[in-house]
Amino acid sequence: GGSALALPVLGGAASWAGHRVDTWGKVSFDRPLDVPPLAPSRVDGQGQRVFDLTIAAGRTEFTPGRPSATWGVNGGHLGPTLRARRGEKVRINVDNRLPEATSLHWHGMHLPPSMDGGPHQMIEPGTTWSPFWTVRQQAATLWYHPHPHGRTAQHVYRGVAGMFLIDDDAAPHELPHAYGIDDIPLIVQDRRLPGGVLDPDEPMAGTTGFLGDRILVNGTLGPYLDVRSQRVRLRLLNGSNARVFRFHLADHRAFELVATDGGLLPAPHTTDHVQLSPGERAEIVVTLTPGERAVLRSSDPDTGAGFVQRDGGEDRFDVLQLRAAATLASSARLPARLADVPRIPAHTADDRRVFELAEHTINGRRMSPDRIDLTVRKDTTEIWEVHSGDGTLHSFHVHDVHFQVLTVDGRTPPAHLAGWKDTVLLPPGTSMRLIMRFADYADPGSPYMYHCHMLYHEDRGMMGRFMVVEAGGRPDPPAAHHSGHH
Ligand code: C2O
Ligand code: CU
Repeated sequence: GGSALALPVLGGAASWAGHRVDTWGKVSFDRPLDVPPLAPSRVDGQGQRVFDLTIAAGRTEFTPGRPSATWGVNGGHLGPTLRARRGEKVRINVDNRLPEATSLHWHGMHLPPSMDGGPHQMIEPGTTWSPFWTVRQQAATLWYHPHPHGRTAQHVYRGVAGMFLIDDDAAPHELPHAYGIDDIPLIVQDRRLPGGVLDPDEPMAGTTGFLGDRILVNGTLGPYLDVRSQRVRLRLLNGSNARVFRFHLADHRAFELVATDGGLLPAPHTTDHVQLSPGERAEIVVTLTPGERAVLRSSDPDTGAGFVQRDGGEDRFDVLQLRAAATLASSARLPARLADVPRIPAHTADDRRVFELAEHTINGRRMSPDRIDLTVRKDTTEIWEVHSGDGTLHSFHVHDVHFQVLTVDGRTPPAHLAGWKDTVLLPPGTSMRLIMRFADYADPGSPYMYHCHMLYHEDRGMMGRFMVVEAGGRPDPPAAHHSGHH
């Protein structure tokens, strides 16, 4: 095979630090995009859909003939796509064959805290963890990744991650939905591959953490995708450790944004770009013309605060080439309405809390496995006001729930934040008010997490633990930052 990049391999850390990376027009797109297989499953005697996952070390050739030491799920790198329907009972056997303990977290899943796969649910080497739950949420693009405290960045960087798709009969059938044909998962990650080989340890660069100079999509370097239909649905996941992407087509054509983290938007939103911080997802529908080659790119993120992730300027990347066949099958027109997204009115909130993200802490504290930072009552609604207070970027994520963005710096949020979210980019100095309802699950013995999804920040302790208890359960511990009822 040829080289996917005409660029020279960058040298050591010193030259790396101030060097802007720009691969626009320089990626040769000579490898077919690898589409993760759908994970096989079986339905057991209790009606549960059962999946078997094995996390293990392997070898992966990102560049032909140059094997890298990687980790993966049911394979050497990344993992299969899990798929389940709303209402279904699922059980997932996770066998850890790595040389160290890890965990597997179902990012975006509404589920009991004991099944969440956070840092207190470690899977020791040679053991199997078998969480189970009922899928109680609408169609969405979720994902899974390890969550061992202090080691999440490294485990994700080595390759442990995959998609988890939720299907729902209520989702409009006009949306392209043939997996791997016109409905394509795209796990986008930046990496360093000096000499074509993945650095075995995640190197540091900058205040937000690791930044790579090459893009892998589903683990493929320099990928192209053959498209045979007029419209293609791209399920974008920013699976990077720190990198913010601002995706657009090279010709800046308009496309439809149809879903964000937690499910479909109320209606398709026509736009020419979508920005994702680590952990965020977006589903877009792109229309192609016969025979064309369209390039998905990432340009300078817009943080609204002039922040650049690395000294020397923002990086920009060519990500994926879409190769439209000479004849394209016609695709259904998207419906005007996609889903009901009932707004949660601010006045219905039972409680309000403030979270200050700064210096690898939240409200001045680093995550401690010995402390519950706050306690929430089941069947209540809360407003969480999050603020980035240290001049760098953060990406705020809450387990179990999906929230709505009420305001960004006091203003109505833009259209791409009009749907269900579980992770949001928080530019320096920005405040966001998020509203969320805690339903279905309460367990005084098992916490959920909230944290920055910049994995370096998370590993350093920019994370907290919250408990959901039955109404009438014990009140907040006195140390929690808490504004009381209003
Ligand atoms: Cu995607 Cu707590 O994580
Ligand atoms: Cu952060």
